[in-house]
Amino acid sequence: MQTIIEPFKIKSVEPIYFNTPEERVAILEKAFYNPFLIHSKDVIIDLLTDSGTSAMSSNQWAGIMQGDESYAGSPSFFRFEETIQNITGMPLVIPTHQGRAAEKILFSILGGKGKYFVSNTLFDTTRANIEFSGAEGVDLLCEEGKHPSIPAPFKGNMDVNLLKNFIAEKGASNIPLCVITVTNNSGGGQPVSMQNIREVSAVCKEHKIPLFIDACRFAENSYFIKIREAGYANKSVPEIAKELFSYADGCTMSAKKDAFANIGGFLAMRNESLALSCRNLLVVMEGFPTYGGLAGRDLEAIAIGLNEVMDENYLNYRIRSIEYLTNKLIEAGVPVMQPAGGHAVYIDAKAFFPHIPVDQYPGQALVGALYLVGGIRSVEIGSLMFGKYDTDGKLIPAQMELVRMAIPRRVYTQSHIDYVAEVVIEAFNNRAKVSGLKIIEEAPILRHFTAKLAPIN
Ligand code: F0G
Repeated sequence: MQTIIEPFKIKSVEPIYFNTPEERVAILEKAFYNPFLIHSKDVIIDLLTDSGTSAMSSNQWAGIMQGDESYAGSPSFFRFEETIQNITGMPLVIPTHQGRAAEKILFSILGGKGKYFVSNTLFDTTRANIEFSGAEGVDLLCEEGKHPSIPAPFKGNMDVNLLKNFIAEKGASNIPLCVITVTNNSGGGQPVSMQNIREVSAVCKEHKIPLFIDACRFAENSYFIKIREAGYANKSVPEIAKELFSYADGCTMSAKKDAFANIGGFLAMRNESLALSCRNLLVVMEGFPTYGGLAGRDLEAIAIGLNEVMDENYLNYRIRSIEYLTNKLIEAGVPVMQPAGGHAVYIDAKAFFPHIPVDQYPGQALVGALYLVGGIRSVEIGSLMFGKYDTDGKLIPAQMELVRMAIPRRVYTQSHIDYVAEVVIEAFNNRAKVSGLKIIEEAPILRHFTAKLAPIN
């Protein structure tokens, strides 16, 4: 059969509230053209994020009832720990309330002024935690990853030559850690190949720089390796994931993505003394080491979700459904990141709105247009999120101006996705009417969450 059906049945539903284009004009204005300031009841299809928005399975909900809420030594923790040990091969597992808490702990210990953290691309919270410690985050993405319209199988790869040069320039002793983000969220949800991870790991080992995986979407990345990389077609996803983690010294993970959980995260690693330092901070910031920042029931939901996500029927549906939307947009001439990523469709806003200069935030303008046309909430991954100012206050733009439509896991059906395609295509056909935006208020870090904007015309 050609049709790929959703590999689940629906037992419980949530209503969608509909509104009119006129109502949306007022809502967007009131939210200062920032999707983070729109109430979710005012959104028809919410593609702001795939984080914490998954539908949990009946098994996960059953696991919730099994949660043991003991302060110390809960069996729910031991199930969580064993699951992560099995998947990653890493013996030391530290629960946190979400991914950025794991990052905060890790970079508080390893960071500091004068240090550099190298990566294929750091996610915004990861970069923020690095910079908050006084250190600098450096993205060394491969060249093909920087061109949205040119397809390549592993556009999330790190550029190994740039890595070698950077180490030679700054000195390995100033680089406490290398982070590979799988899949590369800020770079289009593009996967990293096993070969690239192996090569980066070898360079890091040679220079005694530990390698950590930002493992939020490890299952989606593992599935891409299975279908795109020579030698992996006959390996199971758990085998591929195990190999992927075997090249690393540790990982951070937000369980809000590939663990189908609504909250949660963890650190896992091999080094006892680093784990000890992490646990010392954990107790102050998150909680006792057998629950971190989580309830026992969350630990259960995560453990079950981590095994469910590696099911190949699910991953086939997941990857193909993102490709389905991407292909519909490509057919209509909409400029999107190619090939399709693992969790989201990324529109190239610079190409979508060639008449809007980067300092008028074409990505954010597109986010507004998609909301106005069809009540779709998306997010800018461009110069609003990553832009900086030079000493004269002039914008230093981000590498790309993307708009991400992240697809929550197991939440929307094919007709929702068909509607999304229609809305994007209608916005594209009316693109000349849209104008740029200016910032009227912003915070010093992670400004995209709270910034207030206004249309230029
Ligand atoms: N790393 C990556 C690659 C992420 O995508 C995220 C979150 C984090 C770390 C932080 O995890 O949210 O649990 O603290 N990404 C979400 C997103 C927010 O929308 O892509 P967290």
